[in-house]
Amino acid sequence: MCGIIGYVGGNPAVPRLINGLKKLEYRGYDSAGISFFTEVGVVTVKAEGRIANTEALLREKYPDAQSVCGLGHTRWATTGKPSDANAHPHRVGRVTLVHNGIIENYKTLKKECEAAGRVFRSQTDTEVIAALADIVYERRGDPVATLREVAARLEGSFAVTALFDDRENTVYGFRKDSPLIVAETGDGNYFASDYIAVKHLTDVYRFPAEGTVVEVTADGVRYYDREGEAAPPAPIRVTDVNRDDGKGAFPHFMLKEIFDVPDAIRNTCRDRVCEGRPAFDDETLQRLAAAGRIFIVACGTALNAGKLGKVYIEKFARIPVSCELASEFRYFPPLCGANDSFIFISQSGETADTVASMRMIKSQGLYTVALVNTPNSTIAREADGVLYTRAGTETAVASTKAYSAQSALLFLLALGLGMQKKTLTAETAAAFTKNLTKGVPAAIEKILADTEKIKAFSEKYCTAPSCFFLGRGPDFFLAEESSLKLKEISYIHCEAYAAGEIKHGTIALIEKDVPVIAIISGDKIRAKTISNAAEVKARDAKVLTVTDRLVPGEDETADDICVADCPCEELFHICAATFFQLFAYYTAVGRGRDVDKPRNLAKSVTVE
Ligand code: M6R
Repeated sequence: MCGIIGYVGGNPAVPRLINGLKKLEYRGYDSAGISFFTEVGVVTVKAEGRIANTEALLREKYPDAQSVCGLGHTRWATTGKPSDANAHPHRVGRVTLVHNGIIENYKTLKKECEAAGRVFRSQTDTEVIAALADIVYERRGDPVATLREVAARLEGSFAVTALFDDRENTVYGFRKDSPLIVAETGDGNYFASDYIAVKHLTDVYRFPAEGTVVEVTADGVRYYDREGEAAPPAPIRVTDVNRDDGKGAFPHFMLKEIFDVPDAIRNTCRDRVCEGRPAFDDETLQRLAAAGRIFIVACGTALNAGKLGKVYIEKFARIPVSCELASEFRYFPPLCGANDSFIFISQSGETADTVASMRMIKSQGLYTVALVNTPNSTIAREADGVLYTRAGTETAVASTKAYSAQSALLFLLALGLGMQKKTLTAETAAAFTKNLTKGVPAAIEKILADTEKIKAFSEKYCTAPSCFFLGRGPDFFLAEESSLKLKEISYIHCEAYAAGEIKHGTIALIEKDVPVIAIISGDKIRAKTISNAAEVKARDAKVLTVTDRLVPGEDETADDICVADCPCEELFHICAATFFQLFAYYTAVGRGRDVDKPRNLAKSVTVE
């Protein structure tokens, strides 16, 4: 997490650094800061809170800054709370630097630096890197040798860019397990933690290898490995990027992105449908179809989409699927064999735990498929096969259209696998494909046409400090996603429960007027979930049922029943997800929350 930008060129650095930070703010927004060379040396301006706070300080202190070289950082707090003092850049002696990642041995290093006379002003691990660099620089007098030695002492993950007082208009950088790119553009030379910061300037960048120290000046970029100056890494040409078209007339990105859902599904499926049937790249489809088991590995909302994928793949293709939390999978992998295949789902394609899980599986020679929304992201680049969702740029922290597109693509993939395995006839696959590509977007458009109704439900139900979602099977998986969406942006405590489980403990929390949202679809478990809704209603909970159709008599177990349109029961969850996305959105707006940038979160989770 956190965003890094560095610039050297013939133009004013400050506006370029600020502009870069704004593009990277999705990586964290607890504080921001920049450092740049002036006639009196390196100066730093930083502040807790949004970039606007740093900009205000800059206007006050350096209204006419003409610097052509500097670096900047937008922070998602890991070590040390959000504060001015903990904001990056950090300066010790002659070294000023910013850092993404986590230094696991920082306490040991800190003691060593203190013993060498360095004084610390923050609680961060980053300041330790600056102190260590200052100590080593005193001895070595060479920034490249210094940073190589420092990098070798650090344990954990890091991307660092640094300024040395006596190396005017030069930025240095190095990395390990955390991204840092270098871009030479007509506007000047840049470091950035993500291509997004420079995509308006170039479609080519380089990705320095671990163990390389990079020196960037206005004249060019030099790469140094252990042997000395080295050839630059191969350029990466970006051929496909998501268009970033702003939020238009919508008050928030999240609302705009919910309204994008029908097109996100249409665009995602367009690539993958031929003559009305699923059409996938042969190798990916064959490898997955031949798998003894498919593991789906992801985090957060992407995993919730994966759980719907499990339902679809097991139903249509009869291949067993296990869904795994990437943060657990990487350290406690289940038993798997050469005949298994792995799908890694990620909107950003950069989530640290998902990346690490994928690398672990790849290193064992097993087949990996990425299902990602961001072209050229790490997961997309490194997987054996890639299936893109075409949801476009998702800016709001709460994932909405990406989830819907992921679920739709998994549905289509399951149909394709079913055809390949002959567990599904071509006619049935074609009928479901039509329901998915035509019926689902149309049904979601109907939900979007009646947002007032959903807003009214949110006002009626989200009045309590906590809320419960119930469902069974795929209804439970949608309950998990709906609960996550509501809690992350409204800060209401929410829990999703498999409906049959509540009487094993959770029902103790049900009292008068506690909101319970029951999700009920299909026939198989309808009566069972209805009974569970009746159990909480009998204890005076306020029950909202969201279902695929009205069944006489079911209204006795709910205060309200809402039917979410869908073309068939198998596709109810993809359609109803939009109901719950809007439900969460209106609840958060009603509570005055910062909907697009909820507290403590970041769009891309690049630390574990
Ligand atoms: O970029 P990814 O899809 O890998 O991100 C995974 C999660 O961090 C993400 O879905 C997160 O749970 C969202 N904030 C949920 O809305």
